[in-house]
Amino acid sequence: MDSFVIEGGTTLRGEVQVGGSKNAVLPIMAATLLTRETCVIRRVPDLSDVRFMCSILESLGATVAFADGTLTIRAENISGTGNYDLIRKMRGSICILGPLMGRLLRASVSLPGGCVIGTRPIDLHLKGLEALGARMRIEGGYVHAETPGLHGGVIFLGGRSGPTVLGTANVVMASVLAEGVTVIESAACEPEVVDLCHFLNGMGARIHGAGSPTITVTGVAALGGVDHEVIADRIEAGTFAVAAAASGGRVTLKGARAEHLGAVLDKLRESGAAIERHAGGLTVTAGQAVRPLEITTMPYSGFPTDMQAQFMAMLCLAPGTSIVTERIFESRFMHAAELMRLGADIGIEGPSAIIRGGRPLSGAEVMASDLRASAALVIAGIAAQGRTQVHRVYHLDRGYERMEVKLAALGARIERTRGE
Ligand code: UD1
Repeated sequence: MDSFVIEGGTTLRGEVQVGGSKNAVLPIMAATLLTRETCVIRRVPDLSDVRFMCSILESLGATVAFADGTLTIRAENISGTGNYDLIRKMRGSICILGPLMGRLLRASVSLPGGCVIGTRPIDLHLKGLEALGARMRIEGGYVHAETPGLHGGVIFLGGRSGPTVLGTANVVMASVLAEGVTVIESAACEPEVVDLCHFLNGMGARIHGAGSPTITVTGVAALGGVDHEVIADRIEAGTFAVAAAASGGRVTLKGARAEHLGAVLDKLRESGAAIERHAGGLTVTAGQAVRPLEITTMPYSGFPTDMQAQFMAMLCLAPGTSIVTERIFESRFMHAAELMRLGADIGIEGPSAIIRGGRPLSGAEVMASDLRASAALVIAGIAAQGRTQVHRVYHLDRGYERMEVKLAALGARIERTRGE
């Protein structure tokens, strides 16, 4: 397993190109199952999760070509019986359920188990599909769904922690070919859901209200091919923005969409950084010192759970007390213990982490536990004095394309070591 070796204490300066959004492209790839025609998807990041989804689509019978950031997918004849070992391994693959139901009226998908950031239920996905007329059966770790025909309806998709992103994607994808009108209430408003709906409308779907809590879908008889460019990854952009601020540097994020980063940029400003928005991106300049913050994760347009770990790393540097409260996933604080190995002082009180910042960080060997936790450890490693080794960076490779190359171009001393 690869690891990153970081010599800390450098200041990040320069420009970095933000790639296409992982969380937008995964459901968009699944949506290609809804048509027999060819779909072209551009600005696709070369990530292990994307490669994984390519394999899943191929195992269902689609032909997939991926070159120079462009995916060409043709799902002319699909079987609905994929390689379940593959599907089981990636939680994002749950979003093939909706399009398979829409196209074939039946689907079997492995139930995602719990993962390191908490239990990941899919009750809302199932509730939504049932409301469209699907019959669901759970057997042997799989959800089997079938229907004589899907029809519209009014579906409230809000859960205990608010709306569900992939649940909304699944219900939208199942409803585009359903008979009649589907109204999804308490729909997720994330930009990735909006991008999926743009993709589907490009295929000929009739979706209104994406980006608001009420999405209305009028079913159509068939969908065609489309050529679509994926939105920039707001979490990758946010991660580099925090890395710039934590290192005391100045970084321009080319392609970043400031309008998707409202809560993140607001908190960065509050922590002392300056943000300049300009055509084609934004520039983050660190302040004199990082100031402590109180952060609570929320559904979009609130502060994203996927940026919580990176901010926690930065707040370890802020003299004073910061409080980070996680409201989306119950045990998403695995990075706290690893940050403490670098010298941070963090206490966990229920859903909140109390960070007593300002103590100097010094390099250590740390273990990446999930995608965003890994990014936090890299940020802390750059800010720390001395050598940090981040093990298990395959977690990072799921969601960041060549992160070490991009960081090195900004001045970080970071190298990948192969195997272990
Ligand atoms: C997506 C993102 C992930 C991000 C998360 C929240 C992808 C591939 N992943 O995950 O990076 O962290 O949104 O922004 O896009 N819930 C239920 N029942 C359900 C589904 C969800 O109770 O059927 C709960 C979850 O446990 C969680 C909350 O709803 O507490 C939000 O989860 P959800 O939005 O569904 O996350 P994902 O779509 O899986």
